[in-house]
Amino acid sequence: MTPAGAERPSPDRILRDEHFMRLAIALGGRHLGLTWPNPSVGAVLVDESGDSPMILAQGVTQAGGRPHAERIALEAAGERARGATLYVTLEPCAARSSHSHGPSCSDLIVAAGIGRLVVSVPDPSPFAAGQGPERFGRAGIPLSTGCLAPEGARLHGGHITRVTRGRPAVTVKLARSTEGFAGARRGPRLMLTGEAANGRVHLMRAHADAIMVGVGTVLADDPLLNVRLPGLEGRSPVRIVVDSRLRTPPTARLVAGAGMIPTWIVTTVDAPVEPERALAARGVEILRVSSDANGRVHLPEALQLLGTRGLTGVFCEGGPDLADALARSDLVDELVLITGRSARGQGDVPALGPALQDRMDFLNPWAEEQIGPDLFMFWERP
Ligand SMILES: NC(=O)c1ccc[n+]([C@@H]2O[C@H](COP(=O)([O-])OP(=O)(O)OC[C@H]3O[C@@H](n4cnc5c(N)ncnc54)[C@H](OP(=O)(O)O)[C@@H]3O)[C@@H](O)[C@H]2O)c1
Repeated sequence: MTPAGAERPSPDRILRDEHFMRLAIALGGRHLGLTWPNPSVGAVLVDESGDSPMILAQGVTQAGGRPHAERIALEAAGERARGATLYVTLEPCAARSSHSHGPSCSDLIVAAGIGRLVVSVPDPSPFAAGQGPERFGRAGIPLSTGCLAPEGARLHGGHITRVTRGRPAVTVKLARSTEGFAGARRGPRLMLTGEAANGRVHLMRAHADAIMVGVGTVLADDPLLNVRLPGLEGRSPVRIVVDSRLRTPPTARLVAGAGMIPTWIVTTVDAPVEPERALAARGVEILRVSSDANGRVHLPEALQLLGTRGLTGVFCEGGPDLADALARSDLVDELVLITGRSARGQGDVPALGPALQDRMDFLNPWAEEQIGPDLFMFWERP
């Protein structure tokens, strides 16, 4: 986006900016799932004074949300930051959330004497919300916002959704056979996808703040819902079961692991107390919300509660029932549909319910990826 009255950047400048922003976005992506309630931001500091640009430093928001990416890059570069260009995936914070956190990133950028600032997407949070641009203008630092905006918005979709809607962004992932089935009511579990596709799904888990399923999936599959990729075992996010009457068996495998990986059950205020005791004794945290008209967990309220707990991105790996209910409440921000071309077993549970099918007409298909024999298709909220 070129500010009014400013010169249009040359095609070379646009290409160069996109090149370094792509790097910043890749850096930010590395810590998705680790920084909530804060966004995982990427920053790249570039010296453009010579014939060819040189990267001086880079940064990504650290686990737990601090220090911020800009601070890391600026501190690494020290005096060399003066006059350099800083690429940041999200508008830098301009207000301190607490005195113990030190100066805001906008203050650090001005103090470092940055020569130019390139931002991918604005931050609607009250700690930023357009305050930085005014400060950079006063300091004479040229700012351009909107570089690779769709990619930046995708990286920060969780943070932006939590700020603007008060809840985490919800990605629904469903696998189906070529005939369109997600599972089988009886008999052995339907194996839908190959090893490579399963690896990709585990990477998506690692990049989420939480994995969510309905109790139907727990009863049918007894899943572990952890990350089992070599080297990323420590990246298992919070596990959430949506279970209106606390039917989750205390013997379920994810209950057994609740001491190791935070495990929450979202239930209703009407659910019995006895099973809560058994589950809580094993380390499961029970969250109660209102019932909807069908006596089930009120999903909009449940998601708001998860937002107040700081979650920015929930990866729903539940079955068709929960996926359809989320669609009915307009709570699907991204859909990942995997067509397993090597499905083994006979299915009879359709993957796409009527509400999700309707909802898909309002989502934008934005990518397809072939992984081994399986096809991943991605949709997102426009
Ligand atoms: N292919 C895939 O991607 C995939 C993924 C997961 C599972 N599966 C398969 O799908 C089958 C299980 O399907 P499912 O659809 O029953 O699983 P599910 O969607 O994970 O769980 C459904 C359950 O969630 C609970 N729930 C709580 N609040 C709800 C709400 N507001 N709306 C909807 N549900 C709510 C309901 O039980 P309460 O009323 O008791 O709360 C409901 O029965 C199995 O065959 C499994 O193997 C396939």
